[in-house]
Amino acid sequence: MSKRVRKAVLPVAGLGTRVLPGAKTTPKEMLNIFDRPILSYIVEEGRAAGIEHFVFVTGRGKGAIEDYFDHHPELESQLEAKGKTEILAEVLRDLARPGEMSFVRQMAPLGLGHAVWCARDIVGAEPFAVILPDMLMAAETPALAQAVAAHDQVGGNIIVVEPVPQGEAHKYGIVALDGRDGRLNRMTGMVEKPAPGTEPSNLFISGRYVLQPEIFEILETQPRGAGGEIQLTDAMATLMGRQDFHALEYEGTTYDCGDKIGLLRANVAFALRRPDVAEAARAAIRALL
Ligand code: G1P
Repeated sequence: MSKRVRKAVLPVAGLGTRVLPGAKTTPKEMLNIFDRPILSYIVEEGRAAGIEHFVFVTGRGKGAIEDYFDHHPELESQLEAKGKTEILAEVLRDLARPGEMSFVRQMAPLGLGHAVWCARDIVGAEPFAVILPDMLMAAETPALAQAVAAHDQVGGNIIVVEPVPQGEAHKYGIVALDGRDGRLNRMTGMVEKPAPGTEPSNLFISGRYVLQPEIFEILETQPRGAGGEIQLTDAMATLMGRQDFHALEYEGTTYDCGDKIGLLRANVAFALRRPDVAEAARAAIRALL
């Protein structure tokens, strides 16, 4: 029986250059999807997968993230005094449970691998999840819960993947599989941002991982890769020489909120998924078309 996945690393130091100017003073992870910041959905997904501790790898200008998960006494007492109990309950729902969140700074933009490595001391020697908050996933069983279930089944390392849109493989990490039978398949390789036409499959790494702690030792000396950055994919490819990796094609829909149109799609889709506002949202969208 493999060890339980209790901790998740959330890399949130990125500048959000694809969603400027909005992300200039609001961390891109705090941009709203309908009525809640992206990270509210991400933490909800993590909790649903049994995550007990979230490690945010932050950077300068990201203080709003910590504030969001803490009390706002003035706001809370105002809502209370005015009897706005429903709104108050929604605000309180997102608070961190005592000791549930840690924040560590990535002090230089050296890449995703470096960001994950910054969490090594807080994670320690146990399997852990990585959630890329840009990728918002709508699914009946939350995406990370699907990955954790796969880890319970086969152990080792699990990477969530999905079919890459035509012609976009060079923007992502792409996996190589040892045959394809069902949704969970053993991997034989992976490459970060392959040159067009050289990708080993049509499945891209889409932002949820379960990793073994040995990845940290590899990241410690990982040379820079694609884009001059320390790549998590390169370190995972090295770890694959010693440990099993499985790719999981999860069931659900991904919205890339690091991109303006992706953000718009997520706003529309998540409003339509909400029973309390779906009808009004549909009417408003129809009227615009
Ligand atoms: C990162 C990962 C890449 C993955 C992608 C998903 O790339 O390195 O493997 O496919 O996220 O969004 P980035 O988007 O940071 O370039």
